[in-house]
Amino acid sequence: MTYPLQSLLFRLDAETAHRATIAALRGWGAIGAPLGRAVERAGVTLAGLHFPNRIGLAAGLDKNAEAVPGLFALGFGAVEVGTLTPRPQPGNPRPRLFRLVEDQAVINRMGFNNDGIDAALARIAKLGARRGVLGINVGANKDSDDRVADYALGVGKAAAHADYITINVSSPNTPGLRDLQSRPALDELLAASDAARQGAKRVPLFLKVAPDLDRAGMEGAIQAAIDHHIDALIVSNTTISRPALHSPHRNETGGLSGAPLRDLARAKLAEAVAIAAGALPLISAGGIDGPEEARRRFDAGAVLVQVYSALVYQGPAMVRAIAKAL
Ligand SMILES: Cc1cc2nc3c(=O)[nH]c(=O)nc-3n(C[C@H](O)[C@H](O)[C@H](O)COP(=O)(O)O)c2cc1C
Repeated sequence: MTYPLQSLLFRLDAETAHRATIAALRGWGAIGAPLGRAVERAGVTLAGLHFPNRIGLAAGLDKNAEAVPGLFALGFGAVEVGTLTPRPQPGNPRPRLFRLVEDQAVINRMGFNNDGIDAALARIAKLGARRGVLGINVGANKDSDDRVADYALGVGKAAAHADYITINVSSPNTPGLRDLQSRPALDELLAASDAARQGAKRVPLFLKVAPDLDRAGMEGAIQAAIDHHIDALIVSNTTISRPALHSPHRNETGGLSGAPLRDLARAKLAEAVAIAAGALPLISAGGIDGPEEARRRFDAGAVLVQVYSALVYQGPAMVRAIAKAL
């Protein structure tokens, strides 16, 4: 299936196409285009937040919160910006983003390139009323000597602007970051993050994990999340595993997302649902490409779904198709 502008975007290298998309969405939001009628069906309440529908944008597309109104205008019930780090950082050298067209997949090793949390929060502060739920995803700087402090700082700053905050310990592109998923590192991190959000308004905190955790790792992460009052778990980020791939870029280093992640993301959702046993709500991400796959995740126990890679291949109309079908 193709969508308008796809052939043009696919003629550009992946990162240039990404920049063009953000620029277009920024313009779209600014003129309040007719796509604006949010698809308000089948909403859900999670952690005291009302989500107008159950499809959200996963982190990483709008890292710097440049296109939030335009993204809501596409029909998302939730938009998650970030990952944002305390200080701006350039990320890894280019090329670092690859379309695997034959596999309907993406490999990225962006490495938390972002303008820093202050710049993004300044943009968010200027936005008016929102059509949906805004999540802010936080992480640590690559050269940080106290990663726990980075997260706590991010949570503390984002709390005034976010509807929810995601603690992202699952990016494969910052060396050592995913070690924070193991206990006792996770206990320390989540205790500090939980303390940092205790203000006038207790902002819901979500934790985002990798699909590469084994069962024991998932059990540890879920227990830590429950112990530290985390409000939901996002399963999952990209994978460093490599199912059979066919595209020329298949051997690039980085996190794999899109269709080849689907089976693993489903399996890890099912595992997390079984382990959490109702004590922690689950949000599913990984290879969701339309209403049928979204439905499967809800049937398996997810409260919400998030998408990213399929937007590259299906185009923005997919968002409404999912929202309407639910
Ligand atoms: C180019 C790219 C950049 C991403 N950057 C982030 C990020 O900064 N933080 C994060 O938590 N997840 C990031 N992700 C992961 C997505 O949010 C999502 O969890 C993952 O891609 C699986 O969903 P999908 O198969 O629908 O893409 C990124 C994914 C892609 C493709």
